Amino acid sequence: MPITTCIFDAYGTLFDVAAAARQAASEPEFAAIKNDWQQLAEHWRQKQLNYSWLRAITSAHCDFWQVTQEGLDWALEKTGHDGDNALRERLLALYWELGAYPEVPAILQTLKAAGLNTGILSNGSPAMLRGAVDSAGIDGVLDALLSVESVGIFKPDARVYDMVRSEFGCSKKEVLFVSSNGWDAGAATGYGFTTAWVNRAGEPMDRLPWKPAHTLRDLTGIPELAGI
Ligand code: LAC
Repeated sequence: MPITTCIFDAYGTLFDVAAAARQAASEPEFAAIKNDWQQLAEHWRQKQLNYSWLRAITSAHCDFWQVTQEGLDWALEKTGHDGDNALRERLLALYWELGAYPEVPAILQTLKAAGLNTGILSNGSPAMLRGAVDSAGIDGVLDALLSVESVGIFKPDARVYDMVRSEFGCSKKEVLFVSSNGWDAGAATGYGFTTAWVNRAGEPMDRLPWKPAHTLRDLTGIPELAGI
């Protein structure tokens, strides 16, 4: 069945989640993280995701902005930067304007020009997604910004992936779901989407019951996978 609909995870897939810590580390005021911003960014991301999964399986949903802040607080303490409120505020402000990876605008443009449906399906709250999309200037090439807030549970709950079919009226097999998160690409495969894992960092494959259909280094191969 041909692909009619290309759906993208947001953080790490379209938007560079390490950009906030990298940017702050380059600013003289935040030289304190010059040498450990990468560890800070990794702890931040890992805790943000851990908290999202724990809240999903315990039915204790909150929005992604809250787990983003709670993950950052843990990471700041872990790296010895707790108490630096100016740093905390700067990192959180930068999270609203993460840059898109360089190939993203052109790839989305190619998909739209070929007549495919395009959208984001993300844990991010509607306001976070709006901020990131506007800041990256890619609003015009996305048909829908689907946030888990519509169903009140984080990925990889199947209700999240169901949102794509409700929005576009398509079947699972018509959807190419693209995520840089191995667990997200894997779970979406189990759900029934055709999937592409964007393994930007050369990570090992997640040991889960489902494997992504395709693995790419960045988004440049997506139009071909979509049949363009
Ligand atoms: C998202 C996270 C998982 O955008 O990256 O949903």
